[in-house]
Amino acid sequence: MIIIEPIDALRAQIKAWRKAGETIAFVPTMGNLHSGHLALVKRAQELGSKVVVSIFVNPTQFDRKEDLAAYPRTLEDDCAQLQAIGTDMVFTPTPAIMYPAGGLATRVEVPGISQLLEGASRPGHFTGVSTVVCKLFNLVQPDVAVFGEKDFQQLMLIRQMVRELDMDINIVGLPTVREADGLAMSSRNGYLTAEERKIAPEFNRILRVVVDALHKGRQDYASLQEAAMKSLELQGFRPDYVEIRRVIDLQPPKGGDGALVVLGSAWLGKARLIDNIPVQD
Ligand code: PAF
Repeated sequence: MIIIEPIDALRAQIKAWRKAGETIAFVPTMGNLHSGHLALVKRAQELGSKVVVSIFVNPTQFDRKEDLAAYPRTLEDDCAQLQAIGTDMVFTPTPAIMYPAGGLATRVEVPGISQLLEGASRPGHFTGVSTVVCKLFNLVQPDVAVFGEKDFQQLMLIRQMVRELDMDINIVGLPTVREADGLAMSSRNGYLTAEERKIAPEFNRILRVVVDALHKGRQDYASLQEAAMKSLELQGFRPDYVEIRRVIDLQPPKGGDGALVVLGSAWLGKARLIDNIPVQD
């Protein structure tokens, strides 16, 4: 496995692979890898002849400085895990490489989708995500890129950016990988105390109650959302939102209009958890 930090070395390797007729599958990450990330890499291995994983804790997508400082950096362990599953290259740029002037004047904005839900709770977050992903795509020049559906809104944002900017990249989403008790895998689960970890699966269970009610034909969306928020509070969460939205644009449904998804975000101690469950028709 090749580990590359500088941009010129990355470009030279990508060029050599392209010349040799290789196809490139890309998995962008912020490191602190868990089985969810490894599932993305394994899917990428089915989609391209060379797999590039980037590890970059992107400062511009953190709305709180403390969150950025506390974000776990586990590069050595991450590389060992990636090597063990046969990753071809890990790109590990530093902030000075990605943002030589301390930041970028140029931004990639996807208004609309970036202001809802996670975007409303975390101002500026999605501009940081779309800009860094655009820059990573320009550097790695992948044929295909794989993202987890756990970050459902992020995946929609990236699909829209790629579509509207005519980037020739196939974006593939992978269903959320969960612990045996239903908790969605996340680097942020590491912030949970042992006691909070026992409560955490309640988050997914409470979203499932909403999904079950929708399957039974309920359309009183506001009261279902409110009941879920109350249940979360009773379990000790501080919920940001529980929302029933249309899959197509993440707007509130009007009743009987297409596929739905239930999305939620809640604090449990120091961890801000997010999860979503698509509602099968
Ligand atoms: O999902 C993540 O880990 C990040 O938002 C991403 C896509 C790597 C961009 O920094």
